[in-house]
Amino acid sequence: MAEVIAIDGGYKLNGTVRISGAKNATVALIPAAVLSDGPVEILGVPEISDVAALATLLRELKCDVEIDGERIKVDPTHMEDIPLVSDAVNKLRASYYFMGALLGKYKRVKIKMPGGCYLGPRPIDLHLKGFEALGAKITYEDDTYLLEAEELVGNSIYLDFASVGATINIMLAAVHAQGKTVIENAAKEPEIIDVANLLTKMGAKIRGVGTDTITIDGVDHLSGTFHEIIPDRIEAGTFLIIAAAAGEKVIVQNIIPQHLEALISKLKEMGIKMDVVGDSIVVYGRDDALKPVNVKTQIYPGFATDLQQPLTTLLTQAQGDSHVKETIYIERFKHCPQLNKMGAHIDLEEAASVIHGPTPLHGTRVEATDLRCGAALVIAGLIAEGRTEITNVYHIDRGYDNIDHKLITLGAHITRYHIDE
Ligand code: EPU
Repeated sequence: MAEVIAIDGGYKLNGTVRISGAKNATVALIPAAVLSDGPVEILGVPEISDVAALATLLRELKCDVEIDGERIKVDPTHMEDIPLVSDAVNKLRASYYFMGALLGKYKRVKIKMPGGCYLGPRPIDLHLKGFEALGAKITYEDDTYLLEAEELVGNSIYLDFASVGATINIMLAAVHAQGKTVIENAAKEPEIIDVANLLTKMGAKIRGVGTDTITIDGVDHLSGTFHEIIPDRIEAGTFLIIAAAAGEKVIVQNIIPQHLEALISKLKEMGIKMDVVGDSIVVYGRDDALKPVNVKTQIYPGFATDLQQPLTTLLTQAQGDSHVKETIYIERFKHCPQLNKMGAHIDLEEAASVIHGPTPLHGTRVEATDLRCGAALVIAGLIAEGRTEITNVYHIDRGYDNIDHKLITLGAHITRYHIDE
């Protein structure tokens, strides 16, 4: 039996939705907490299965973990240097942050190859190159990495690509390295700043986050602290698109509007009316025809690759051809055949899609092939005629906090049930 999210489409959405803490910050903040000598309390934790998987890994390391709603307390006081080789590692991509954190803490880590959404090849060579530059010897056998260093010593590391994961992972290892580490061509995503803020509160010495060059002066000890996670800009962007596609008047609360500038300007270019009011954005329903737009995904502050998939669904409703060019994950187009099953007309080119709109969508059974494909299909289900059944819902639950409940509050008709596979 497989679980499906079933959406009866065509109901207009109204009301207020509150955005949760950022998934892609959370999944790095939780491993970062193990670098501390005392308890770290994190607030604004989203209720997603990635957090549950990280908690399992922490408990395997003999950390005390308390989760109470949006709060997690990680106490690494009695933690032990234990290999992370269970299946929990495969459940999420972000388990690789334990590489940097444990290498920093113990100068040694044994961990299975991380899992996560399949978006085409997702190498971790830049992470490994960074660890090597700090003095780690790396071996790989039976899908398992062993990283060991006699001492971690600060170094200058140039990233060939401004990778989010590599920037964070190298920071995690470098906070305990001797001397100065400089990361050049560092990524600038807000989630990186959030992780650096936590580490700084713990006592780390980090400068330059949010710029191309991050400098870390190693320290011997980090202590317990308290931190509140930034709002999830991708969940926020998803709800802005949902509101544009299916809303009459929807208020999306707990947003940092600067984090969403590229999406907001694309939505405005399409003709969507929005008002930014403090940390909320009010989105008004569309009376006029939507204009097609061209989108090219880029590193922050460019258009986020994670929002390319949900935006594609809205583009199926625009009057004319829209072009999406992917520069981060060139194979991130698995949502397109699924949308075509619902009546969309999307052609795939190399690392690009052409969305021929407008096309009415109709409900059918579709598969969430990855997290943001799931979001694209939820939006499609909300505007389609009839019932859409989305399978592989675990992908959606990995990254969206109670998406069905939030949508039901806005007036959507959604249920979950099990079907024979
Ligand atoms: N890359 C390499 N070598 C590396 C690392 C990355 O070639 O060592 C390549 C990747 O293959 C990709 C590009 O560099 O083509 C960007 O990868 P990056 O390292 O920046 O991405 P990530 O850290 O693996 C995070 C988010 C993704 C998000 C990307 C881009 C987390 C846990 N994941 O992935 O989020 O798409 O940054 O912003 O933070 C999602 O939320 O759905 C998601 C996939």
